[in-house]
Amino acid sequence: EPLDLFAEETPPDLETLREQAAACTRCELYEHTTQTVFGVGPAKARLVMVGEQPGDQEDRQGAPFVGPAGKLLDEALDEAGIARDDAYVTNAVKHFNFRYQGKRRIHETPKAGHIKACRPWLDAELAAVAPQVLLTLGATAGKALLGSAFRITAERGEPRPWNDLTLVPTIHPSAILRADPARGQDRDEMFAGFVADLRTAGELLH
Ligand code: URA
Repeated sequence: EPLDLFAEETPPDLETLREQAAACTRCELYEHTTQTVFGVGPAKARLVMVGEQPGDQEDRQGAPFVGPAGKLLDEALDEAGIARDDAYVTNAVKHFNFRYQGKRRIHETPKAGHIKACRPWLDAELAAVAPQVLLTLGATAGKALLGSAFRITAERGEPRPWNDLTLVPTIHPSAILRADPARGQDRDEMFAGFVADLRTAGELLH
């Protein structure tokens, strides 16, 4: 049946959304994935974090940020004094986009069409949770919510008003995992900058 998330006067609750999203065929990614990976966290969280899309582990386990990037996110949140369980964590795209390299599934950046198709779910999650602060992790989440002109290097760490909340863009934890010293990227420095952005977001909570 057609998706009509906003036909009702009151926005659908997260459980209803999760059930509907589990059957989503709005783009083709559902065809080769294990499951929809919907957001996880308190229904009235003050902080929402938006990543890009589930990775291999997330696709298998059905929850966001439970693989290597999630482990790094946990470390950074810990250092920033933010309890992950107090935040609602989700992704701009809710199915894993990948290609095979032999038997391995390799992450592929989601296409604009995937992000667009998935957007109603993210909007509905944000309407249901109504957080005070929204952290976007990485360029994909930033562009998904701020538009294609968003530039992560110039704009990360700078809070901005966005709809009824404050949005803080930051880098993606995977970028830290991929840090390449040959390209002048220092892992520890990137981690510290990531923690600083998380702190900025944490300090905006009231
Ligand atoms: N990377 C993301 O952007 N989201 C996840 O859930 C896992 C890895």
